[in-house]
Amino acid sequence: MIFPILTFFVLLSIMVHGHVIIFVFGIWFQIEGARREGGKGDSIWDVFSENKDNILDKSTGDVAVDHYHRYKEDIELMAKLGFGAYRFSISWSRIFPDGLGTKINEEGVTFYNNLINFMLEKGLQPFATLYHWDLPYNLHTTIGGWLSDKIADYFALYAEACFANFGDRVKHWITINEPLQTSVNGYGEGNFAPGICTDAIKDPYLAAHHQLLAHAAAYKVYKEKFKATQAGEVGLVVDCEWAEAFSDKPDDVIAAARRLDFHLGWYLDPIFFGDYPESMRKRLGDHLPKFSERERENLRNSVDFVGLNHYTSRFISHVETPGEIHFYQVQEMKRNEIYPSGEAIGERAASEWLFIVPWGLRKTLNHISKRYNNPKIYVTENGMDEEDSELEKLELNERLNDTKRVGYFKGYIASVAQAIKDGADVRGYFAWSFLDNFEWAQGYTKRFGLVYVDYKNGLTRHPKASAIWFSHFLKGEGSVD
Ligand code: NOJ
Repeated sequence: MIFPILTFFVLLSIMVHGHVIIFVFGIWFQIEGARREGGKGDSIWDVFSENKDNILDKSTGDVAVDHYHRYKEDIELMAKLGFGAYRFSISWSRIFPDGLGTKINEEGVTFYNNLINFMLEKGLQPFATLYHWDLPYNLHTTIGGWLSDKIADYFALYAEACFANFGDRVKHWITINEPLQTSVNGYGEGNFAPGICTDAIKDPYLAAHHQLLAHAAAYKVYKEKFKATQAGEVGLVVDCEWAEAFSDKPDDVIAAARRLDFHLGWYLDPIFFGDYPESMRKRLGDHLPKFSERERENLRNSVDFVGLNHYTSRFISHVETPGEIHFYQVQEMKRNEIYPSGEAIGERAASEWLFIVPWGLRKTLNHISKRYNNPKIYVTENGMDEEDSELEKLELNERLNDTKRVGYFKGYIASVAQAIKDGADVRGYFAWSFLDNFEWAQGYTKRFGLVYVDYKNGLTRHPKASAIWFSHFLKGEGSVD
C-alpha cells in the first residue's frame, strides 16, 4: 500500500461511515436453485447447462446453493457479519415464466416479497438487479432473445411489474448486469447461454444494442410511472478491466484507450453522449447498429448511478492484424514483472483472467469520473476466486483460511478510498460474492465466496477468514492490516 497508514484508516473510515458498504451476489442462476419450484419457467441458462459440454464440471443451477430455501439463514448470517446492503437479482422467468409479460406468476412475486421483507427486517438495504443473464427461454425460442428488436418492450413490461410489486421497498434498481459479457460470450463466442456463435462481428453488437434499448425503456417506465411516488434510483452495471498502455508509445496509448471504448464506452457513451465511441464506429463500420433520434433521447442520461463490476486489469499494445476488429493486443501478464509503463501486477487468482491489480480499480473509477462528468458510482462487484480442486486437498478449517482473498479486499478497498480522495463520487462497494456459487461455464470449480459452501455435505455454510475480516472492518473492530 503506497499511502501512509494513518491516511489509510481515515479513508477507510470515510468509506464505512459516509457510504453504503458491502455486499453482493446474484440470485437465481448462481445461488437460487429451485428450478422447477414456485411456478418458474425455464431460462436460457437452465437449458444451456443441460448440455454437459457447456459447463466445465457438467453441473447445472437446478439446485445451486439452494438460496431459494435457505435465504433466511443466509440473510441472518449477512446481518450478523455486519453487512449493510444486499445486491441480489430477480429471475425474470420466476415473475413471467414465458417472458411475455401477460401472465404474472404470483408465487414468484411472493417469494421476492418475502426475501425483500426479510432483508429489510434484518437491516440490509436491497439492491435489486432485473437481469443477471437468465432470459426466459421462451423469449429466445420465439423471438430470438437479445437479437430481436422486440425484446426491449418485453423487458419494459417485466421491469414495470417489478417496480410495481417491489418498488415501495426497493430503492436501488439495476436494469442489466454486464451487457458486455452476455453480448460477447452469449452471441459471439457461444460459451455462455444461449450459445450463439454464428456471426461474431455482428451479433454481439446487435445484442448489446438491444440491451441498451431495453435498459433505456425500463428507465423511462420508472421515471414516468414510479419515480414521483417511490423516489428510488435506477442504474446500469457495466464491467470493465482497467486497460493500461503497455508502453508510452502513442500507438499503445491509443490502443489502451480503444480497449476502454470497446468495453466501457460501448455502454456508457450512448448513455452520457448519445452514441457509441468514435473508435468503435471506425473499426466496425456498418456492423455497429445506429440509434434513431428517439432512441438517443431515451438513452441520454438514463442512469441515476453507474454500477461498476471490476476484478482485474490488462496491459494493452497496438497491433494491426488484418481482419481483426480491435487492433489491440492483450499482453501476457506475469506476476511482479514491471511493465514498460512502470506498473507491475500481483498474483493470479484461480481464473486465468484474474490477476490481482488493486491500482487498476482506482484508475477505472477515475476514468469514469473524468470522462462522464463525475456520475454517482457504486462498485457493484469486486472479488477473487480459488480453485475448488486445490481446496479439496485440504481439511475444512484450512479451506476457510483464505488469506489471499483478505489481501485482495484490503488492496482493492484501499484503491476505492484513493479514488474517493481523488474526487470520484463512489457511494458504495459490494464484494463478490457472499457464498460460493455456480460460476457460469466454470460450474462449481471456482469459488468466489466469503462463505464456504460444502457441496458434498448438505450445502452447509462456513464463513471464511475473509468474512470475519469484513465483519471486523465493518464494525470498526480490530485492525485492518
Ligand atoms: C461478473 C458476473 O456478474 C458474476 O455473475 C460472475 O460470477 C463474476 N463476474 C465472476 O466471474
